[in-house]
Amino acid sequence: MIPLVKTHMPSKEVLMPALEKVLYSGYVAQGEQVDVFERAFETYLGGGHSLSLNSGTAALHIALMLVGVKPGDEVISTALTAEPTNVAIKMVGAKIRYADIDENTGALDPLSIQSCINERTKAIMVVDYAGIPVDVKAIRQVADKYGLPVIEDAAHALGSMYMGIKAGRHFPYTVFSFQAIKHLTTVDGGMLQVDDEEDYQQGKLIRWFGIDKKRTRLDNDIVRQGFKYHMNNVNATIGLVQLAGIDTVVDAHVSNGQYLDKHLQGVPGLDCLTYYPNSQPSYWLYTALVDDREGLIRKLGEQGFMASELHKRNDWHTYLNDFHQPLPVLERFYKRMLHLPCGWWLSNEDRERMVSVIKSGW
Ligand SMILES: Cc1ncc(COP(=O)(O)O)c(C=O)c1O
Repeated sequence: MIPLVKTHMPSKEVLMPALEKVLYSGYVAQGEQVDVFERAFETYLGGGHSLSLNSGTAALHIALMLVGVKPGDEVISTALTAEPTNVAIKMVGAKIRYADIDENTGALDPLSIQSCINERTKAIMVVDYAGIPVDVKAIRQVADKYGLPVIEDAAHALGSMYMGIKAGRHFPYTVFSFQAIKHLTTVDGGMLQVDDEEDYQQGKLIRWFGIDKKRTRLDNDIVRQGFKYHMNNVNATIGLVQLAGIDTVVDAHVSNGQYLDKHLQGVPGLDCLTYYPNSQPSYWLYTALVDDREGLIRKLGEQGFMASELHKRNDWHTYLNDFHQPLPVLERFYKRMLHLPCGWWLSNEDRERMVSVIKSGW
């Protein structure tokens, strides 16, 4: 069975010497490798400050804290995402105000975002769902007009581009996940990418109980709530080895995604998505809209390909549905949405066979 998602690990020959070195170095906690990984990640993205953490969820939580979201505030978000995006909003005691999505991409519709803004709105959370970039320009315009910070959840979108610039360089806060099945995994881990040096320094405090690691414990005075969210040297070492090969991984996703974009055009009962001009998805999953989704899932399954909608729309969780807003576009989109495998593990032969299975009808 060709899976929808898969863990990528560098070869033993490359990973094990680095891992063995750090494991027996006497220093497995947060130390030099963590700093080296952060600086290497900044270089990969092309600037900003990278704050490494033990999960993408921790990155979402810290971003919301840095923005100053408090109980009673509202954050505009999308229901088309994995649960952590919206659970994090509840972690800071805020309410989730869902905006509707753009029919062509599944990303938040900037006009719908605008219509959700009220005096309690504190931030806008956007998600590059399945690796598809959001409408950066239009979202920036809305955010600037109302003076609202944007947090980009790019957990699915490492290596995606908009106007030739990678996700992580478009908004003041961007979240990446290095959980088991993402483009880059450190086993578990995450990164909060921030523009502002002061945010980076505050983020460092929050990730370690509010304690300033540059001073001794006795010299410290905790003045704000912190957590145990740091990355350790072992995960950072895996991250560094993964980062050295990340272009090959992302390029394989992109090549397979573009192949599917090209060869699934015009298939009866299937619509490909159209992406924003000058945007380049990193195709964590391949997303299409199909009639009789269950029929196609069954047919692909019989032929050895996993396909599914993967995520439950988040407004269907009681705890994540604060306002019960109607989301008519999401309603239509979600009914037909299907994810197909398109990652590095698909060979040319696999993708050709998957296309011919789909073309033979279901
Ligand atoms: C869209 C999205 N946001 C955030 C997260 C949270 O990442 P993590 O599992 O690293 O906490 C995930 C991943 O699982 C995700 O899919």
